[in-house]
Amino acid sequence: MRVDVLLGLQWGDEGKGKIVDVLCPQYDLIARFQGGPNAGHTLEFDGKKYVLNTIPSGVFNDKTLNLIGNGVVIDPVIFKKEIDKLRENGYDPIAKGKLVIAKKAHLILPTHRLLDAASESKMGNSKIGSTLKGIGPTYQDKIGRSGLRVGDTMLPDFKEKYDTLIAKHLERLSHYDIDTDFSEYEKQWFEGIDLLKSMQQVDSEHLVNKYLSEGKKVLAEGAQGTLLDIDFGSYPYVTSSNTTTAGACTGLGVAPSKIGDVIGIFKAYCTRVGGGPFPTELDNEIGEELRRIGHEFGATTGRPRRCGWIDLPALKYAILLNGVTELVMTKADVLSGFESIKVCTHYIWNGEKIDYMPYDILSIQPEPVWEELEGWKEDLTSITDKNEIPTKLVEYIKYLEKELNVPIKYLSVGPDRVQTLLMS
Ligand code: GDP
Ligand code: IMO
Ligand code: MG
Repeated sequence: MRVDVLLGLQWGDEGKGKIVDVLCPQYDLIARFQGGPNAGHTLEFDGKKYVLNTIPSGVFNDKTLNLIGNGVVIDPVIFKKEIDKLRENGYDPIAKGKLVIAKKAHLILPTHRLLDAASESKMGNSKIGSTLKGIGPTYQDKIGRSGLRVGDTMLPDFKEKYDTLIAKHLERLSHYDIDTDFSEYEKQWFEGIDLLKSMQQVDSEHLVNKYLSEGKKVLAEGAQGTLLDIDFGSYPYVTSSNTTTAGACTGLGVAPSKIGDVIGIFKAYCTRVGGGPFPTELDNEIGEELRRIGHEFGATTGRPRRCGWIDLPALKYAILLNGVTELVMTKADVLSGFESIKVCTHYIWNGEKIDYMPYDILSIQPEPVWEELEGWKEDLTSITDKNEIPTKLVEYIKYLEKELNVPIKYLSVGPDRVQTLLMS
């Protein structure tokens, strides 16, 4: 058996949560492998909507085990809020033994959040647009070998280790003009730590490999999107982890030879939240229409998402980096009623026509080269069979499959779990 990976091919918010929820009955284990509560994964079913930040999106399926992998960073306060919310709605994955956490996953301390805010406060116009959840500073401590891990919560000197790291952070924060009172947050933080201590803490590498050797099916759930990858994204306007397939190997402890299908998700158009280059961005009424119809406001921060047409050079790059074997296109319903749909096929960059993302995308802006396709008028949200898909959308799908050279296996036509069409 191999681990299938599901991840975003754009700048995040492609609909990963919804699709993991749809696919999870086919899997025994769903494992988040990177990122932290900067993620907001939305699921809708039975008229209810849930947003998950740290918890894998298989949590509503009674049969599936959910693992928060070693590559994830955890804020105990946010994690506890997620669990409380699930419990209020009648779901208790911890009590049911359906949610476990990696001992090697790193903890976001209250001061990591302050350091995130401090760092952004000095950036002026070149702000990353971080979610301010402390992601960057936590990964910095991980790489700098001074972080605290979930397994440390069980050690007798945990509080001492915590105090040492906090003192180090406070020294750094003293150079910034920001309020460093985190006493209220700290209280909640230790309540969250108690919750983490009550959970089953595991070695994700052993758990995942045991599942594989027993012939069980595992799906790795990505957060953020390929273009936010720390190595290959639009650096420095990226997040601080590897959001690509390689991140599933290090973020769970799985060998590259054990990766199976790679399911790449993309929206029928494109969005980005936060700063950084976005070649196909529409700073006009069409962009506003996409935002309004697609409800493009961040699930974590509520910020309006920047909107634009689909970007083929960027998608091709994402498919290459991840080794995508099948595609899922979401939010096709949002495009119903647009007279025409544009696709960016190339960029004009530095006077040249190119079909890849250039290194220097910040100082020399790529100009999109557009191809225009006819739109469709029909509402898609109640379609239940692929044969009901309007001809013009079929043409759009065929066009994308030909360009991207990977089949679109699922088409999502609304936020609800049932609004998902199997294409092949
Ligand atoms: P994720 O971070 O990739 O899980 O995506 P988000 O949950 O942040 O953002 C996707 C948003 O689009 C959520 O509000 C979903 O409920 C919604 N959504 C997902 N798929 C579809 C779809 O096919 N059509 C529409 N209209 N909304 C969708
Ligand atoms: P999901 O999993 C969209 C963006 C932030 C910012 C940059 C860095 O829901 O798709 P960070 O807080 O990581 O330091 O922010 O990355 N970002 C996301 N954008 N979806 C996400 O997650 C994101 N997580 C981070 O807006 O531009
Ligand atoms: Mg999201």
